[in-house]
Amino acid sequence: MRFYYRTINVRGRDLINTAIGNTPLRKCNFLSASYNSQIYIKDESHNPGKSSKDRAAWFMMEDAIRNEKIKPGGTFVEASSGNTGISIAILARKMGYRAKIFVSKTCSQEKLRILESYGAEVELCDNSRGMHIFNSTQYLAQAYAANTENAYFTNQYYNSANIKAHYKTTGPELWQQSEQAVTHMLIGVGTGGSISGIGRFLKEQNRQIKIWGVEPVRSVYQGFVETGMVPEFQELHDAIEGIGRTFIPGAFDPQVVDRIFQVDAEESKDIAKQYYAQTNQLIGYSSAAVLACLEKYKEEMNLKEEDQLILFFPDHGDRYIQKLYKEKKSQSSKIYNSL
Ligand SMILES: Cc1ncc(COP(=O)(O)O)c(C=O)c1O
Repeated sequence: MRFYYRTINVRGRDLINTAIGNTPLRKCNFLSASYNSQIYIKDESHNPGKSSKDRAAWFMMEDAIRNEKIKPGGTFVEASSGNTGISIAILARKMGYRAKIFVSKTCSQEKLRILESYGAEVELCDNSRGMHIFNSTQYLAQAYAANTENAYFTNQYYNSANIKAHYKTTGPELWQQSEQAVTHMLIGVGTGGSISGIGRFLKEQNRQIKIWGVEPVRSVYQGFVETGMVPEFQELHDAIEGIGRTFIPGAFDPQVVDRIFQVDAEESKDIAKQYYAQTNQLIGYSSAAVLACLEKYKEEMNLKEEDQLILFFPDHGDRYIQKLYKEKKSQSSKIYNSL
C-alpha cells in the first residue's frame, strides 16, 4: 500500500516527514455474517498518533505554519477530547513547537498520560460546551491563545482544514479501498469534521451513498439534521468520548449527512465487551458506539446482502481500558449469541 508522505517545506527546510493516513480498510467477516451484509472497518488506530485526528491536526498545523499564523517555537493550542490534542502534541514536538491542550475532566486517564508523555501542557476543564461557556475547553483555549505571545488556537470546531483533511485524504482512500463499491458509511460525530469531509467526497462520487452519523442520546446533531434548528439545551448528553455536542460546530456540514442515530453510553460499553469476547479486539469508545448503533437500528437500516457498509473506527481500545474493559462484565443479554 502507498503511504502519503507529507512534508512542510518552509524556507528550504523540511519540517516533518511522517506517514499519516492510508490506514487499512478490512472486511469483518464476523459482523458481515451477523448483519447479513458486507461490513468493513476503517481502522484509524494505524495512524502514527493512533487516531483519525492525526489527519485534522496535520492539515490545521500545516495551514498555520505555511501561512505564518505561528512563528517557529510557538505554542499550538487546542480544545480536545484527547485525540486531537495527542496528535497536535506529537506533531508539535517533531516540528519544534509546543502544545497546550485543554481537555474536559471526562477525558480518559490513558489519554491524559499519553498527552503528558508527548510533552503537552494539559489543562483540565469543567466541560466542552462551546466557545460561549466560560469554563469550557473551547473558551479557555481561545482565551489562552489570545493572551499568549506566539500561540495559535487550531480550533478544530471551526477550522475548515478539519473537514478538508477528511475530504482530501479519508474520503478518497475509502473510495479507492472499497473499489468504488461503498454504499453506506456509519461515523461518530464530534466536531463533525470526519463525517462532513468523508460525506462530501463520497457524495460527489455517488449521491446514493448513505452517510449516517452516530452520537450519544441528548446530543444536538440529530435534532439539527432533522429540523434545521439547534435543539434547546436541556440535559447534558451521555459522555462517550469524542462524540456528541451541545452546540453545532462550523466543522459540521448537514448537507452531506442523511441521518444521525443516537445511542446510550451503557449500550456502547456493553457491546465493546461483547465484541472483544468474540473477536479479541479492543475497540475505542466511539467505535463501540458505532457498533451499538448498528445493533440498535438494524431493522430501520434495512441493509441488503450486497450492501457495503463501512464502519469508521477512529481509535483503539487501549485508550479506554479503565472506562470500557476494567469494569464489571456486560449486564445485558448477549447480542452476538447466535454466532
Ligand atoms: C475517539 C473519537 N471518536 C470520534 C471523534 C469524532 O470525530 P470528528 O471530530 O471528526 O467528528 C473524535 C474526535 O475527537 C474522537 O476522538
